[in-house]
Amino acid sequence: MDFSAGYEEYAFIADLYDHVVPYRDRPDVAFFVEAAKESGGPVLEVGCGTGRVLIPTARAGIDIVGLDLSPHMLDVCRERLRREPEDVRSRVQLVQVNMRDFELGQAFRLVTTPFRPFQHLTTVDDQLSCLACIRRHLVKGGKLILDIFNPSLEGLVRDNLGEEFGDEPEFTTPDGRRVVRRHKIVSRDRFNQINDVALIYYVTHPDGREERLVHSFPMRYLFRFEAEHLLVRSGFEIEQVYADYNKSPYSSKYPGELIFVAKKAGG
Ligand SMILES: C[S@@+](CC[C@H](N)C(=O)[O-])C[C@H]1O[C@@H](n2cnc3c(N)ncnc32)[C@H](O)[C@@H]1O
Repeated sequence: MDFSAGYEEYAFIADLYDHVVPYRDRPDVAFFVEAAKESGGPVLEVGCGTGRVLIPTARAGIDIVGLDLSPHMLDVCRERLRREPEDVRSRVQLVQVNMRDFELGQAFRLVTTPFRPFQHLTTVDDQLSCLACIRRHLVKGGKLILDIFNPSLEGLVRDNLGEEFGDEPEFTTPDGRRVVRRHKIVSRDRFNQINDVALIYYVTHPDGREERLVHSFPMRYLFRFEAEHLLVRSGFEIEQVYADYNKSPYSSKYPGELIFVAKKAGG
């Protein structure tokens, strides 16, 4: 069974990930690098993927451990690291483990979850287990940045089940494949707050061959106060809630992101 929302099962996702335009242009890197620098490190990135945020953090002089369950995403990250200078590489450690249950034998000043890996956990038990692991890995006064999206009420009731949508720009991979990506909501479980989502990649190979690749996964949405209760229940104090990576306060835009800066409460 795949516990990493398809990332473990399908190698094509890791292969295409760094080229997808909205991922490549995602405006969160400076925010996470700044937080890492403020913390002084070491940092743990939960669900580090291909190193989109992890590598710039290491370049900024911060020691960082990247945790991910997908061997494919970690392979791409290792390949990218091979092209970095030795001092950057020496600041990075990668571990293939499940974020629901891990023990790394190290404590961190900051734990981050850039680009919503936490929402791949679909049950409260899994969320609590993950947050307990994160808390255990924080030094006294250490912080967690929990990065999730703020669910759009309009989006949740839109009558577009099974329809493909999205108008992302086409991208070309270094080996000449042209790719257009579309989105689909396959099903909505409103009682458990889970959308089954499909990301569909239409690939045209240099020889003209066409391929349709589908990455399906469940995505759990959390509302603001639910997430706050979860964090407090897990032994965190909420310090900030942001709506974007420029630190605009929550409620300044809708739906926006839902970014919590939470401090480990107690000892
Ligand atoms: C959207 S990607 C984000 C990657 C990276 N943080 C970034 O910002 O580009 C989500 C990542 O979460 C990882 N993931 C999903 N479920 C996981 C789990 N249970 N344990 C560890 N990693 C998981 C996936 O393999 C994937 O690399």
